[in-house]
This record gives sequence, structure tokens and C-alpha cells, in this order.
Amino acid sequence: MRLLTVVAIDGPAGAGKSTVARRVAKELGFRFLDTGAMYRAATWAALAAGLSPLESEALSTLLVDLRLTFEDDERLRVNGIDVTEAIRNREVTSQVSAYAALPSVRTRMSRAQRELGEAGRLVCEGRDMGTYVFPDAMVRIYLDASPEVRAERRAKELKDKGESVNLDDLLEEIKARDAADSSRAVAPLKRVPEQHYVDSSNMSQEEVIKALLDVARSGLGSAA
Ligand code: DC
Repeated sequence: MRLLTVVAIDGPAGAGKSTVARRVAKELGFRFLDTGAMYRAATWAALAAGLSPLESEALSTLLVDLRLTFEDDERLRVNGIDVTEAIRNREVTSQVSAYAALPSVRTRMSRAQRELGEAGRLVCEGRDMGTYVFPDAMVRIYLDASPEVRAERRAKELKDKGESVNLDDLLEEIKARDAADSSRAVAPLKRVPEQHYVDSSNMSQEEVIKALLDVARSGLGSAA
């Protein structure tokens, strides 16, 4: 099997994947793809159109016309509208697991991800990158952290933004998303032995970036 020059990073919500994966991409000079943002964008579009996850025909039509474009691998537009901030709101966050579980949504997103990966030199992060979308990635990583640590990190982020937080509520939200992401029928979040396992619970962000870069460089070899 020909391997792709792809670094595929998976793990649960709030493990800090996006921030560290972005830095790893920058250090390697690779493109970066936040696939959670794609599922959030599809959810945002469905909610804006007033479509529930049950309205499968209307959703399929919406997906056909959905144009997702990343600018500088950072700002995301849906059919021309900049949704970078909107896709992080509470409503999208609480609904995204339900839309991300739909086979029609997953097929559409996986195909777009695959196209980017086949061009090579890509760091991507999500829930099913190394297991489902890129089983042929040169480097596959599972980045973990305990639910308590993830809730605390999220609380700090929200506090820094001036939002009020309840740690118990955040912990419940995180556990509910873990359960939804791990138990769905199509491409659930799971760990496989081929992934390098990194538990970031007791590591600083810089330590995680260094650990991931070491794993990526050794896996990529001369392709780095
Ligand atoms: O990483 P995130 O919180 O932005 O992800 C948003 C949602 O999208 C999350 O509930 C899981 C889902 N997701 C997925 O199913 N597959 C991916 N590859 C990435 C995210």
C-alpha cells in the first residue's frame, strides 16, 4: 500500500488537538485541516436552514450545494459566508454530534478530506482520521486527556473570554460528547494499535507539540 504524507491525529473533544496540530503543521510546512470545523460547518448550515437531522432528503440537497472553503487553513466559509466564529457557538456545539453521525454528512466530508490528503503534506485532526479516512497515513496519532483535565482546560478558555462557567456542566457536556462520538454506527471515535498514543493530561502544550513533532518526523522520515 502506498502511504500518504499525512499526519492523522484523532482524539476526544477538548484534548487540545486543534491548537497543537496547527503548530505541528506549521513546523513541518504542511497544510492543516480541522475536520471538526467541517462537521460544525455542515451543522451550522443545517440549523440555518431549519433542518433537523431527521430531514434526510432536504439535508442531502443541502449537502450537494454546500461549498466549504478554508482561507489560509484557518478561516472557514460556507457558501461564501464566514462562519469561523459562529461554528463554535453553544447551539452548534450541542447539536454537532447528531449531524456528524449521519452517513450522508460523513460521506460528503470524508470525500473532501480524502481529496486534500491525496495531495499530500497534510496534518489533519478529528475523530476518524487515522482509522477511517486515512488508514494509509504515514503517521497516525491518538491524542488523549482525561475528561476532568479537558473540562478544566475548556473552563479556562471560556473564563479568558469573559464567559461564566460551571465546571460540573462542562464535564457532563464533555462526557456526553465522548459517548456520542464513540458509540455512533459510522466511523466512531476509537483507538487502534497502529496509532501512537499520547496522553496529554499531565503535559504542557509545548511538551505535547514536541512529542507530536518527534512522532511525526520519525514516521515521515525523508518525507518531512
Ligand atoms: O473537534 P470538534 O469538537 O470541533 O468536533 C465537532 C464534532 O464533529 C464532534 O462532535 C465530533 C465530530 N467529528 C467527527 O465526527 N469526525 C471528525 N473527523 C471530526 C469531528
